[in-house]
Amino acid sequence: MANIVVVGTQWGDEGKGKVVDLLADQAQVVVRFQGGNNAGHTMVVEGRTFISHLIPSGILQNKACYIGNGVVVDPEVLLDEMESLGKMGVAVNPGNLGISERAHLIMPYHKALDLARETAKGKEKIGTTGRGIGPCYEDKAGRRGLRFVDLMDFDAFARQAREVCEEKNFLLTGFFQAEPVDAEAMIASFADFARRLAPHVTDVSEAVDQAAAEGKSVLFEGAQGTHLDIDHGTYPFVTSSNTVAGNVCAGCGVGPGRVHGVLGIVKAYTTRVGKGPFPTELFDEVGDRIQERGAEFGATTGRRRRCGWLDMVLLRASVRLNGLTGLAVTKLDVLTGLAEVKICTAYRLNGKEIKRFPANLDELAACGPVYETHPGWDGDISGARAFSDLPENARAFLRRMEELSGVALKIVSVGPGRDETMVLENPLEKP
Ligand code: GDP
Ligand code: IMO
Ligand code: MG
Repeated sequence: MANIVVVGTQWGDEGKGKVVDLLADQAQVVVRFQGGNNAGHTMVVEGRTFISHLIPSGILQNKACYIGNGVVVDPEVLLDEMESLGKMGVAVNPGNLGISERAHLIMPYHKALDLARETAKGKEKIGTTGRGIGPCYEDKAGRRGLRFVDLMDFDAFARQAREVCEEKNFLLTGFFQAEPVDAEAMIASFADFARRLAPHVTDVSEAVDQAAAEGKSVLFEGAQGTHLDIDHGTYPFVTSSNTVAGNVCAGCGVGPGRVHGVLGIVKAYTTRVGKGPFPTELFDEVGDRIQERGAEFGATTGRRRRCGWLDMVLLRASVRLNGLTGLAVTKLDVLTGLAEVKICTAYRLNGKEIKRFPANLDELAACGPVYETHPGWDGDISGARAFSDLPENARAFLRRMEELSGVALKIVSVGPGRDETMVLENPLEKP
């Protein structure tokens, strides 16, 4: 069995959690390599819904789960998540969850700064999840971040945290006119987090590399989506990490040779939470219908997701940026009942057709979609378990996606449940 990366190809929420949970059955190890609790990954198993923000989606299958060094971790959220999984009968313990000693900690002042910056920006805000992600990665790059390994020497941690907090409070109160963070209360709560999380802290690079060397199959679980990547996305309306598959290596400490394939998760249409350009966004009743049928509300913030048609300019860029070796199409069922479905194949910019995604946001905002229109399909498709069970028009739509992307279709999802899926080709067997 191969080691594969599962990445979002659009702006997040493509259904990565569902697909990772499904594939975890055949894997032994599942690792997160970037992002933090800005992610919200939903798994629906036997009618029960689980949402994970930090713990890899392999936990429901009781696989060896790791949070890599590239992830930024809010320890309070992690502990809450462990507890709520426990209440749902999913035990999380040091035997099935390891946290990298090198992973950075999201501190209360990161959250305060995230909110203060967004408030100060007013209408120009990014629409972040407010979880402190950007400010934490800023401190990581600025070399004043605090890591799990620092928690293990608590007196030194407390000294450093106090020092950094003083600078942040100066910014919060002096510049943003916001409330300061109580450094001593923060340190006291981190003493408790350190005690409770210490048994999970480990060398994730070594653990994952060793598992791979033993021939165990590893799933690298991406968060967010390719077009939220800090370098390749719609900057500045992006998240603060590299979301592309290439970041697996840096984000959990394995070499590129350990990665055998990259499965791109693509919704049969497009959604986006937060601000930023979205060329195929719908503002009509079709958009509303997709939003309602797809229950498109953020799994982290509960915000209504913006909806639009499938955008192949976006997807083709994702094919290249991630080196996709397979596609998993999700939420096909949501398009059922529409008279016609559209696929954007190019953009029109100043009267010319372009097939690339412009880096300049003003140009991107001026791009209009060029659509091809396909006939829709009717009937409940959520019971389909083989490609041949799907209506002819749905099959033609999928084959067209495959043709336009140049990547083999491996999985089709027709409902939120683990079993509401058809595997056309096993990505772990033939990456
Ligand atoms: P992730 O962040 O990529 O893991 O995706 P989210 O969990 O944030 O959002 C995907 C949503 O769609 C969740 O509510 C899933 O339960 C749901 N979902 C996943 N696949 C399908 C599907 O094929 N059909 C339908 N109707 N819902 C799906
Ligand atoms: P999953 O893993 C969708 C978006 C936010 C905002 C921007 C920056 O569930 O697909 P941040 O808090 O990261 O600084 O916010 O990125 N965003 C997501 N959108 N799904 C996600 O994760 C997201 N994580 C961040 O809405 O526009
Ligand atoms: Mg999500």
